[in-house]
Amino acid sequence: MTQDELKQLVARAAVDYVKDGEVLGVGTGSTVDFFIDALKESGKQPSACVSSSVRSTKKLEALGFKVVDLNEVESIGVYVDGADEIDGGFSMIKGGGGALTREKIVASVAEKFVCICDGSKKVEVLGKFPLPVEVIPMAVQSVARKLRAFGGEPVERDFTTDNGCRILDVKGLAITAPHALEAQINAIPGVVTVGLFAARGADVLLLGTSEGVKCFEKEPKE
Ligand code: 5RP
Repeated sequence: MTQDELKQLVARAAVDYVKDGEVLGVGTGSTVDFFIDALKESGKQPSACVSSSVRSTKKLEALGFKVVDLNEVESIGVYVDGADEIDGGFSMIKGGGGALTREKIVASVAEKFVCICDGSKKVEVLGKFPLPVEVIPMAVQSVARKLRAFGGEPVERDFTTDNGCRILDVKGLAITAPHALEAQINAIPGVVTVGLFAARGADVLLLGTSEGVKCFEKEPKE
């Protein structure tokens, strides 16, 4: 199966988590694009969607889904999004599509985060995929210097985010302590968000493999 076919497979499986009449959080990326298509085909009707990007908003609205501002809702049942990498503890690298900050905000409100990925995204240690860091434009160089001190090699992406900010993609990190690194990078002045999702990781991982969709659920804390 191709990577796109695997993405379609998990995208269809994620539709089972959507409840009619409930507010749905929608991530960003090619896997999420397949999910939005599958949602339309399924006939399921969330009361509204909260979107994590202009890209997903446009696609949702084009297919007839109601999209509302996060400020208009008090809760989100399920948030469906892809990832660039996910480890065994359900921590993720996200932001390959540049929507990391809004994704992190919407995910923080959701009761359940359903991560949809093709099998290539599951890793032992995060960091082979360059870690995206969204940065206030005036702080690009000062943040880059601090990131070098963590042992990374930041490269500025030729891209401006939906929030008018810049992205540094940090190569060369082996992220063995994602919770600690997320807190440390978020504390650098000028950083809007780091694309490490450890404090709020996924609750469910739907992994597309040639043997079908594998479902992993995070064990609840005692
Ligand atoms: C966007 C993201 C995406 O979820 C991530 O990049 C995966 O994308 P794709 O589904 O296209 O492989 O974090 O900011």
